[in-house]
Amino acid sequence: MMDRSEVLDILERHKEASGQLMSILESLQSKHGYLSQEAMELVAQETGRSLTDIYGVATFYKAFSLEPRGKHLISVCLGTACHVRGGPAIAEEISQQLNIEPGGTTPDREFTFETVNCLGACALGPVVVVDGHYFPKMTTSKVGEIIAKAKTGLDAVEIDTDKRVFPVEVSCAYCNHSLMDPHHMIDDQPGIRVTVSFEDKHGWFVLSSLYGSYKIESMNPIPRDMIMHMFCPHCHAELIGGAKCPECRAPMVPMIVRGGGVVQICARRGCKGHMLDLGGGTLE
Ligand code: FES
Repeated sequence: MMDRSEVLDILERHKEASGQLMSILESLQSKHGYLSQEAMELVAQETGRSLTDIYGVATFYKAFSLEPRGKHLISVCLGTACHVRGGPAIAEEISQQLNIEPGGTTPDREFTFETVNCLGACALGPVVVVDGHYFPKMTTSKVGEIIAKAKTGLDAVEIDTDKRVFPVEVSCAYCNHSLMDPHHMIDDQPGIRVTVSFEDKHGWFVLSSLYGSYKIESMNPIPRDMIMHMFCPHCHAELIGGAKCPECRAPMVPMIVRGGGVVQICARRGCKGHMLDLGGGTLE
């Protein structure tokens, strides 16, 4: 049952923003895990937009789902790099073990399984992301193990071990160019520089490279709760993977860590969701 006040609260928060429909739907998707008919009707009524418009946006973007999703999300990459390294066999194995097709949810709502075009870590393929955790260089023989791990609470285990503060050096997951900016120091370390866009604004954005620090500097002030799009300043690819923030369900932004592994930060301004999978996965 939809909580009407939650939807009204989201509408209130986005009242002033331009391009608000996308932001409203993103917030609803993050909050409920999908866009219910009832929620979309309420958005239409409160914003004066037609239901057809809202459906148009909700069905155009893959980030939105009109069906409730499972408690755990398994995404298998079938982008070119992962495809040639065995992605389809892994997808097939997951399909068989969960007894659902890609895009489906198990009847007990435990798992949703989807295939995606690129998870933003091509160098580590074939890649599977389970509840935001990257499993690089996957094999079919590890599938049973990751399904079992997801059930016993992958998030809780991993996040509790991520409390330390230490510097990371990262590069773009697409072109592998370093994202470190020695001319822009934060926390006495070279910052991580990306291009950011939200609403109709674009500009540079520098984050502290100390894992565990949340300091940032930005060309444009970024409103709290805004979901940002981040791009590599070198190849201009959008830094986006298939993972969702364990805290707020906004998309996670993946970057490759020098020495092996992936760091992901939540795209929502002010959210402290971040994760680090070092050394090629958590199954070893
Ligand atoms: S092709 Fe799989 S992560 Fe890019």
